[in-house]
Amino acid sequence: MTASAAHALTASWDALTPEVMRARGSLKWVRYPEAIGAWVAEMDLGTAPAVTEVLQRAVQDASLGYTPDHLARAVRQEVARYQQQAFGWEVAEPDVSLAPDVLSVLMTLITRHTRPGSPVIVPTPAYMPFLSIPGVVGRDCLQVRALRGRDACGHPTWELDLEGIEAAMASGGGLLVLCNPWNPVGRVLSLSELDAVAALSARYGVPVFADEIHAMLVIDPGATHTPYACRPGADPALTFTATSVSKAFNVPGLRCAQLIATGPGRAAWDADGPSRWLSHEATLLGVQAAVAALRRGLGWLETVRAYLWGTAGQVAHDLEQVPGLELTVPSGSYLAWLDCSGLEGAALEAAGSPARYLLGAGVAMNDGAAFGAGYERFCRLNLAMGRGVAAQATARIAQAVADLG
Ligand SMILES: Cc1ncc(COP(=O)(O)O)c(C=O)c1O
Repeated sequence: MTASAAHALTASWDALTPEVMRARGSLKWVRYPEAIGAWVAEMDLGTAPAVTEVLQRAVQDASLGYTPDHLARAVRQEVARYQQQAFGWEVAEPDVSLAPDVLSVLMTLITRHTRPGSPVIVPTPAYMPFLSIPGVVGRDCLQVRALRGRDACGHPTWELDLEGIEAAMASGGGLLVLCNPWNPVGRVLSLSELDAVAALSARYGVPVFADEIHAMLVIDPGATHTPYACRPGADPALTFTATSVSKAFNVPGLRCAQLIATGPGRAAWDADGPSRWLSHEATLLGVQAAVAALRRGLGWLETVRAYLWGTAGQVAHDLEQVPGLELTVPSGSYLAWLDCSGLEGAALEAAGSPARYLLGAGVAMNDGAAFGAGYERFCRLNLAMGRGVAAQATARIAQAVADLG
């Protein structure tokens, strides 16, 4: 993308307003009609022109049927090529398979590829469905709370509690959900954390579901994503990686995700009919969008990442001035974790949670309670909005905090 095209794009995002967004009608903006939509993981920044073009052509041609083999192959090839070029992970095309979405892969993995009845280990705070899906398929969920610390500048940090994960594995956990980058804290996991997880997985024979859906959205120029699967200690028999362009290109409604598994993990997945069947559920539009995104959309994505990083800085600066709040600025993803435990006041207690209080003040965020036990006083703030809208959101939050007295 040329500098002038990038400039025009960012100017169009800067000019977005709540009215424009609401008129577009996304879930993020219509569920809470009085509030700024800063909750569900959709972006207000549209999608890449290459994706729009391919979708328009498909609709024009009424090309809305099942996925032809050559397109399924194309998306597998593009995913493999991207993993190699972006992250240095050598993936063979046959080791990539399609699925409608990442959560279907997780559900299938739990039901068909873990020890019957075994609980699922989920580090928290966690993307909400990780906590509910085990129950849906009759399994317990072992929550392992993150270790909270501070970096040299005093900013909050969130680390995997490796001892807690080990204890959960030792007690019979049958699968570890490893979300990297980590929704909702936005951490890009370190090599030493990945290696420690790999060592535990090998020691206890526990498979790892590496959810890397946010890997294309590493917005912090100082952070580097490394796929869990390419660490030398990650046993291919125990490693299942899920990817998708859906977050980075803002097309989660199109239903096309991928599972990457190699060696014995791949063989076990392919040998199982119901697991393999998932690939037929990826949609043709989703496949076409993914191919276009990976072949011709990466310049657009670069502009998006730079914009999100700037917005994160702006929001962090605005909220730093607000007493009682502490924002964890994400390195990977556009989701920021907002600690509201310094707030108090009768109106807050009456609302029941900071998220509900701030919703009443006109900013819809996700309630921390949904991300695991102990996070009731947190909110997840979606930063993927125009900078003007972001400024309105932080002003509303600041006013609501001031109103608490
Ligand atoms: C970490 C993570 N995994 C999975 C999903 C859902 O992906 P899908 O719609 O492909 O199931 C999301 C959506 O926000 C997510 O943040």
